Formats: sequence, structure tokens, C-alpha cells
Amino acid sequence: MRGRSRDVRHQPVHHPLFARSYARLGALRDELLAGLTGRVIEIGAGSGLHFARYPRQVAKVVAIEPESHLRALAVTAALRAHVPVDVVPARAEALPVKSEAFDAVVTALVLCSVRDLGRSLRELHRVLRPGGELRFLEHGRARGRAMALTQRALDRTVWPALCGGCHTSREIVAEVRRAGFEIDTHRRLRVPERGLPLPTSSCVLGVARRPVPPADGGGPPPGQRAG
Ligand SMILES: C[S@@+](CC[C@H](N)C(=O)[O-])C[C@H]1O[C@@H](n2cnc3c(N)ncnc32)[C@H](O)[C@@H]1O
Repeated sequence: MRGRSRDVRHQPVHHPLFARSYARLGALRDELLAGLTGRVIEIGAGSGLHFARYPRQVAKVVAIEPESHLRALAVTAALRAHVPVDVVPARAEALPVKSEAFDAVVTALVLCSVRDLGRSLRELHRVLRPGGELRFLEHGRARGRAMALTQRALDRTVWPALCGGCHTSREIVAEVRRAGFEIDTHRRLRVPERGLPLPTSSCVLGVARRPVPPADGGGPPPGQRAG
């Protein structure tokens, strides 16, 4: 090891900003998945970074991933998971699963990239049982006016083409509500926390729920029904 410095500044690969946001994301990913149980569907699972992080109480994960290279990595990651994971080629806009089949849906850094956000969210609503949870960790529209304008300009020009279909200015919480979910909790975050904000720095970590319909279907009591 002669002549090799242990000082990270002299190492050939040294990305402190990336390393910090990645470490932060790790903690947020654990928070995203904490307490999940039963059957879970993860949308846009990528290389399967979540698989080893799922709580053991999860009975099964169906991991949707449309991109073939990432899907191959996800299949390998599934072998290292503590819970059974099936990796499935599909898109959020048309999920090849039955309605109301899952206790939870998980999305992380995906809703920015789906082609049709409204349709995707309605699919997530369809496959979730009433009372089931949508857990999301997403980036979206910044609060500050200058950054929001920058995001809009980027989305209309180079960003989606350069970043795999990603859009920076989507209003995630509003769109989740519009698709019929109730928001249980959500927290706005900045990733990375310090330094110059990026177009993707404005993040939200949240839990939404598919509402349980009233036991009587929401209509008037039987005695008052017409006919
Ligand atoms: C930024 S990566 C995030 C991957 C992973 N969720 C994570 O947190 O590491 C975005 C992922 O969304 C996937 N994706 C893009 N469009 C999608 C769609 N319409 N339906 C499902 N997944 C999609 C991509 O293939 C990619 O795996």
C-alpha cells in the first residue's frame, strides 16, 4: 500500500455532495418503509435499493420496473432480500395486477418520470385495498418562486430528455389528492440539506390512504330509499 494516501481528497472518486445526499436518502428510505406489513407493490423499483430494507413483517413485494437493465439488477437484489420479492416488467399507468390486492404501495423518485401522472396515481388507487397506504418519497415543485420558474423552464426544454423523462415541477401532494387519496401525513424536505439547491432538491415524504367507503355505501338509510 506504499504511496497510497488514506486522505479521501486524494482518492480518485470523491463526490462529497453526492455522498451526503445519498446517505440522507438512505435514512429517508428507511422512514418510507418503516412499519409496512402484508402485501406491498413498489412502483419503479429501479435496481432494487429498497428490497433489503423492507421490514420482515412484509409478506410479499411485487416490484414493478419497466427498464430492462435496472430490472436485471433488481432481480439480483431480490435474492438478497429478507422478504419474497417478485420483479415484474410493467408501467405505473397499466399495472398487471388485480384491484384492491395490496396493503401498501411504495414510490420513491418515480412520479417525476411516469408519462401520465394522473393515470398512474389512479392505477395505484385501484390496486390498493380500501384503507391501504400509499407511501411516497418524491421530488417536486419548489416553494420558492425563482426555483419554481426555473423548474418550469427546465421541464419544457432539456430536463426530461437529459434525465430519463424526469420532470422537476410536478405538484405531487396535490396530484395524489386529486387521484382520490386522503393525505395522512407529509413532510417537505430539502435534499441535500445544505449547499446550492438543485432543481430536484424540493422533496416530500408522505403517507396517503385510499379511503374506506362508508359501510352502507354512502346512500341514505334503507327506510328512506326511493321505491
Ligand atoms: C430515479 S429512478 C428511482 C428508482 C428507485 N425507485 C429508487 O428510489 O432508487 C426512476 C425509476 O422509475 C422508473 N420508471 C420510469 N417510468 C416509469 C413508469 N411509467 N412506470 C413505472 N416505473 C417507471 C425508471 O425505470 C426508474 O427505475
